[in-house]
Amino acid sequence: MRLFLDTANIEHIRHGVELGVVSGVTTNPSLVSKEGKVDYKTLVKDICCIVPGPVSTEVLSQEAAGMVAEAREIVTWAENIAVKVPCTLEGLKATAVLVREHVKVNMTLCFSLNQAILAAEAGATFVSPFVGRLDDIGEDGMQLVVDITRYLSYYKLPTQVIAASIRHPAHCLSAANAGAHIATVPYKVLLQMVEHPLTDIGVRRFADDWNKVMGTAGIVPPK
Ligand code: E4P
Repeated sequence: MRLFLDTANIEHIRHGVELGVVSGVTTNPSLVSKEGKVDYKTLVKDICCIVPGPVSTEVLSQEAAGMVAEAREIVTWAENIAVKVPCTLEGLKATAVLVREHVKVNMTLCFSLNQAILAAEAGATFVSPFVGRLDDIGEDGMQLVVDITRYLSYYKLPTQVIAASIRHPAHCLSAANAGAHIATVPYKVLLQMVEHPLTDIGVRRFADDWNKVMGTAGIVPPK
């Protein structure tokens, strides 16, 4: 499973890429707003320079014509853009046009298998089921990821699942077990994924055992 960062924060993206584990980014209007009153185009262009893979950039219009116009502008900002379009009737109509123009579309705000079926039929490159938001209303968000990945693989469809609205490391585990192609994770969750108390204990014990016998000298290159 590939990992994308779900943020518009440049420092967090830089760090994730530096760690060698982040291959894409997803943003949305709420995440961009968290960065203050920024120039959307400049911010997206900066993100696209840092991250090697797709950077999902959301349209703001709610009608197909507006979405298409925005998408046509957004794709000129960088080569690694995927345009984020909501799973609505207007979003499908826009996706149909954009796919014909070879634009990578990430159909977002997906809350049902039916929406994912339509996204795949419309030719979306990605579909993003929102796990945490479904959990929030008492539904089983991860079951939707399971259902969509099973459906796409059964019919050998090329659309990739981005498990989105990830709230904690256990969501990442379940997304991987469900066969999601990608999980898009908040920076905090990315940092939590590496944590394990036994790793910390092990690192300390190796250092202590070494130091007891060898002194504090580590492995130094010959002068
Ligand atoms: C995905 O592309 C969305 O940006 C994101 O995962 C939404 O997550 P939230 O429910 O935590 O806002």
